[in-house]
Amino acid sequence: MRPLGAGVGAAVRAAAQRLADAGVPSAEHDAAALASYVLGERAVLASFDGGTQRRYDVLVARRARREPLQHLTGVAPFRHVELAVGPGVFIPRPETEGLVDLVLKACGPDTVAVDLCAGSGAIALAIATERPGTDVHAVEGSADALPWLTRNAGGVVTVHHGGAADFAGVVADVVVSNPPYLPLGLDVDPEVAADPAVALWGGVDGLDVVHEVVAAAARLLRPGGLLALEHDASHQPAVLECLQRKGFVQVTGHQDLSGRDRYATGVRMSA
Ligand SMILES: C[S@@+](CC[C@H](N)C(=O)[O-])C[C@H]1O[C@@H](n2cnc3c(N)ncnc32)[C@H](O)[C@@H]1O
Repeated sequence: MRPLGAGVGAAVRAAAQRLADAGVPSAEHDAAALASYVLGERAVLASFDGGTQRRYDVLVARRARREPLQHLTGVAPFRHVELAVGPGVFIPRPETEGLVDLVLKACGPDTVAVDLCAGSGAIALAIATERPGTDVHAVEGSADALPWLTRNAGGVVTVHHGGAADFAGVVADVVVSNPPYLPLGLDVDPEVAADPAVALWGGVDGLDVVHEVVAAAARLLRPGGLLALEHDASHQPAVLECLQRKGFVQVTGHQDLSGRDRYATGVRMSA
């Protein structure tokens, strides 16, 4: 975010108060982010003129109605990339950045990586840009998410439309996935509810697509290939057991930066 000129301080403070009153958890950050967005290149020196103030007020009102910040600005940062996002595609989350760390060592020239349930392409793009030469495939089941994925992939990542269970045609060194994993019926914040349902809900216990992804990875990976997936903090024992049942070895649970059990890895058994 660009530093803001002193002239906009009062407007941003008022907006932050309005957002806090509406229950927005990151009110100060979002008020400043929307000011940077409407001011663009002028952010450092500018004060609000009438038109900019009106545009800012409209965006703040929408945020106060709990539209996600990223739907208002049209972008979401993820590691070193900025993704185009909007209604129809899942907004990438900061905790998924830790999932990418688990696979980067196994990626590089002459390796094939598959991102199952790719959404905006956050994971796939991060791998392709941080490990140039990796042949990265992004597989996404939702027709609504596909235009966002195709736009973000920009020819650097190969996009496939279809379910994880149906994807075929590559022998992968790495499969990575952040599938939908919320159990049906969970109460979620309005910003989360703005994500597509197909990106959130994983059946009654939340594990339906996890099972699909693990089965697909067992089929796609070469012997010795690596699977890494993100899961709900309460699911780690079930996910580790699922990997073992599917014949993965070196099955390991991992924590995110706040110490929650959020990722699992396994290696496809050598022949
Ligand atoms: C939690 S979002 C993650 C998106 C992206 N990987 C990220 O981390 O930002 C899950 C994605 O999986 C897609 N999806 C759900 N079920 C799927 C399936 N069976 N096969 C392929 N994609 C699926 C959804 O449309 C959604 O884009």
